[in-house]
Amino acid sequence: MKSQILVTGGLGYIGSHTVVALIEAGYEPIIVDNLSNTQISVLSRLEKICNRKITFYETSILDKAALNKVFKNHKIASVIHFAAFKAVGESVLQPLKYYENNIGGLISLLQVMESNKISNIIFSSSCTVYGEPETLPVNETAPTKEPTSPYGATKQMGEQILKDSFSNCIALRYFNPIGAHSSALIGEMPLGVPNNLIPYITQTAIGKRPHLTINGNDYETKDGTNVRDYIHVMDLAEAHVAAVVRLENTAKKYEIFNIGTGKGNSVLEIVTLFEKCNNVKLNYTIGPRRQGDVIAVWADATIANTVLGWTAKRTLKDGLTSAWAWELYAQKLGL
Ligand code: WQD
Repeated sequence: MKSQILVTGGLGYIGSHTVVALIEAGYEPIIVDNLSNTQISVLSRLEKICNRKITFYETSILDKAALNKVFKNHKIASVIHFAAFKAVGESVLQPLKYYENNIGGLISLLQVMESNKISNIIFSSSCTVYGEPETLPVNETAPTKEPTSPYGATKQMGEQILKDSFSNCIALRYFNPIGAHSSALIGEMPLGVPNNLIPYITQTAIGKRPHLTINGNDYETKDGTNVRDYIHVMDLAEAHVAAVVRLENTAKKYEIFNIGTGKGNSVLEIVTLFEKCNNVKLNYTIGPRRQGDVIAVWADATIANTVLGWTAKRTLKDGLTSAWAWELYAQKLGL
């Protein structure tokens, strides 16, 4: 077994898929999660997929004493930090909750790492930091823009804090994660009404929601709807393994990588492809624009491709069919 990797938020959507990818690559993940935005049943389903026990601590990263115990119990080589709130709309309504958890939690984690002399960290950042890019595809040298939400602000601040305080850090700027593990045993499980497009689509298709509202079709894009870079969550998970390898094999530095497919698709294209590849009919209406939406953003992932040796392999169809398979399984589970 290779080194032990601490995964904060490891029972969440991207965290759980990354745990699978780490085990497949021979690492031993140690999960810390306070279960504020997931369910404990993810753990047993992860163990079923990986066919082995997985070490889990129900701990808040704000609880330094408890976090310190985890470091004392294990020989942690690197940390992958997912534990953060991520709903853009909610962050506007509850900014202090987001700053306390996303920034306070990050600082607490970094202080405990420092006292345990652990310096390798991978930070879950977001293409949100680019705002509305001037040129597309957007690369890592593009200027970051005034954040359009406290959620986006916490991603920008997080990157700055790490740049100033940590010498061995990789920030991964995710584009739009979609889909689920091929077993359909884990997937995106938003609590309450989904903010993101794909879970809203799958919940509409299965009858949990009466219809999907497309937020505006009067944008300057090919069909008037917003364009995004939808990346399969397992491709995103495997990018984290590539980042761990990079951290273990390079001199101490601070690096940023775009993790996207390099292709943009509109909301209407996603809806149409979802119907076609899953043979379902989606009930949707066109509504008003959503505040804070950028018109179009997709990645130039060349640096991740060349420096990390990572490229997205899975297709948009893989993402949309696996998202649907997971929704059907979640319904069977009564989730
Ligand atoms: C995509 C498009 C919506 C729902 C956000 C965060 C980003 C990351 C992913 C965490 C937009 C449209 C959506 C609906 C719709 N967060 N839409 N009807 O806003 O690009 O990115 O989530 O990892 O950091 O900023 O993703 O899926 O919310 O929206 O028309 O019911 O789908 O307006 O154009 P977004 P999204």
